[in-house]
Amino acid sequence: MSLKGRDILSLTELSSEEITRILDVATFLKSERKQGRFRQPLVHKTLALIFQKPSTRTRVSFEVAMTDLGGGTVTLSGGEIQIIRGETVEDTARTLSRYVDAIMARTNRHSDIVELAEHATVPVINGLSDLYHPSQVLADLQTIREKKGRLEGLRLAWVGDGNNMCNTLLVGCSKTGISMMAATPAKYRPNKAAYDIAKRVSKKTGGEVKLVEDPEEAVRDADIVVTDTFVSMGDDASREERLKVFLPIYQVNSKLMSLAKPDAIFMHCLPAHRGEEVTADVIDGAHSVVWDEAENRLHSQKAMLSLLLAEDTALRI
Ligand code: CP
Ligand code: NVA
Repeated sequence: MSLKGRDILSLTELSSEEITRILDVATFLKSERKQGRFRQPLVHKTLALIFQKPSTRTRVSFEVAMTDLGGGTVTLSGGEIQIIRGETVEDTARTLSRYVDAIMARTNRHSDIVELAEHATVPVINGLSDLYHPSQVLADLQTIREKKGRLEGLRLAWVGDGNNMCNTLLVGCSKTGISMMAATPAKYRPNKAAYDIAKRVSKKTGGEVKLVEDPEEAVRDADIVVTDTFVSMGDDASREERLKVFLPIYQVNSKLMSLAKPDAIFMHCLPAHRGEEVTADVIDGAHSVVWDEAENRLHSQKAMLSLLLAEDTALRI
């Protein structure tokens, strides 16, 4: 199975089988890399990376992924391409498609990445928008599968802001049979479209999806506890107001973690804010898998890029 030529904007475009395939290839490539072995199916392929917002993990993991696979990257900040001076997203998409084999973009508005994908003739990957963060959730699913040995039947608790990560986990969990309960304040619920998709998909895959306000209800007996910043990029103007709503109730601390299963794992896409959405003893403690989660960005993106761009023959893994 290849995903040749496809866009990955939200995970809604991938079937459960396609997600499993990405995770299988990621596991294989991770094990190869640990043994110093590198397949290079993307020689002479170039990925453009556009960042309208800061990034550490996404930028480095995509760049290293392309190097590992034998290809190259061109990294552009939003401020140094002509969009900043009014060139349209459409013209940018058409132009870049003449040079590169795929485009990864981190945009302020999800509508911009959709527009980019509409007009690009090469695959477009969402490297985080205000609505979705699919490359992160592929790494999260890989991490969960590594730690728990399966996905189906697990229970994931989301605590905090119903943001881009929460929206994407709703989609990713529902596609892989994980039951997800998201505890958010009423004002900061996840996106309704993402929730509706998750509800519909989970009926087929056997998971459950529930939105609640009480973090304790979500975390009780969970296998996985996940949070993210209370103030995402682009939300800085409402920082004070948000901290008042989220703290202290939605902070993942050891008392809240103690309600989860004894072998529960704690996840966070990073960057983290110790003392806000999570305490240091949790993120730096025994339940935390955040560094493996960050590492898996590299492996799952290598899998995704290979399946999007490599010749089928290079993928007989
Ligand atoms: N998790 C994540 O996307 O991190 P960066 O913002 O550092 O890329
Ligand atoms: N929700 C966060 C994720 C950062 C990787 C943000 O959008 O800033």
